[in-house]
Amino acid sequence: MKLKKLHPLIGAEVIGVDLRHPLGDQSVKFIRRAWKDYGVLLFRNQAISDGEQVSFSRYFGKLELFPQSQNRAIKIPEIFRVSNVDEDDQIRPIDTPEGRYSTLIWVWHTDSSYRAIPSKGAILHAIEVVKQGGDTLFANMRVAYNELSMELKQRIKGLKARHNFLYSRSLQNLPPLSEEEAAMVPAVYHPLVRKHSDGGRSLYLSQTYMESILGLEFDQGQKLIQELMQWATQERFIYRHKWKPNDVLMWDNRWTIHVVEPFDHSSLRRIMHRTTIAGTEEVLE
Ligand code: SIN
Repeated sequence: MKLKKLHPLIGAEVIGVDLRHPLGDQSVKFIRRAWKDYGVLLFRNQAISDGEQVSFSRYFGKLELFPQSQNRAIKIPEIFRVSNVDEDDQIRPIDTPEGRYSTLIWVWHTDSSYRAIPSKGAILHAIEVVKQGGDTLFANMRVAYNELSMELKQRIKGLKARHNFLYSRSLQNLPPLSEEEAAMVPAVYHPLVRKHSDGGRSLYLSQTYMESILGLEFDQGQKLIQELMQWATQERFIYRHKWKPNDVLMWDNRWTIHVVEPFDHSSLRRIMHRTTIAGTEEVLE
């Protein structure tokens, strides 16, 4: 296997591996290392089945199940369908809750930050892609933190944000979850600055789910969230991925954030299958 950088600050393409087949220890080690070093990995031309995607994903940890059953693939629930097309092959109209739900990925986030132990990474297989819009942008939160002004570093030191799955739904006026589903996703608090096992730090931001900042008035908290998001998503921190069918992207949710560029949701079809690798530790300060 070989690596080719995608961007000076984030991402590499992995060349010379076929994800349809079981991998040997050396290959898994190579991919783990690259995932840690580059944050985003691209594997081109991978015509994998959902089952093969799940088997590949399991090399990197346990898999999460998405809280809402309607977004899980019927046959393989570990597959989270990120799509504006339902399993009956119909486009979800934008004026329905399901259609509006599928536009939440147009807001910057890191996956499952609404969990007490958020996901460590995700793997996304492109099945149908759109020609206009629909790119996925990834930003490097280690660099965004390191280059933050001393003044802002001091201002956010020790602050925690409330991450709430139900808040993300309120952004799109979605109907309430069932009691059972809501009970699975109580709001949680995570530091704005995350410490990693190598001693480095990154911003931990997830605008879709970040409702407020502990100890700040709601408006003040939202103002700070906006300020940090604006800083962290500058062009220079970002790798933009233009999808081809059968691209597989694997990213680290601990120090990268991502967003999908809006596209014409009512006429274009975009079908992506995601597996989400469960985290193993709390977000440390
Ligand atoms: C996601 O936000 O998890 C999916 C990104 C994408 O569909 O490109």
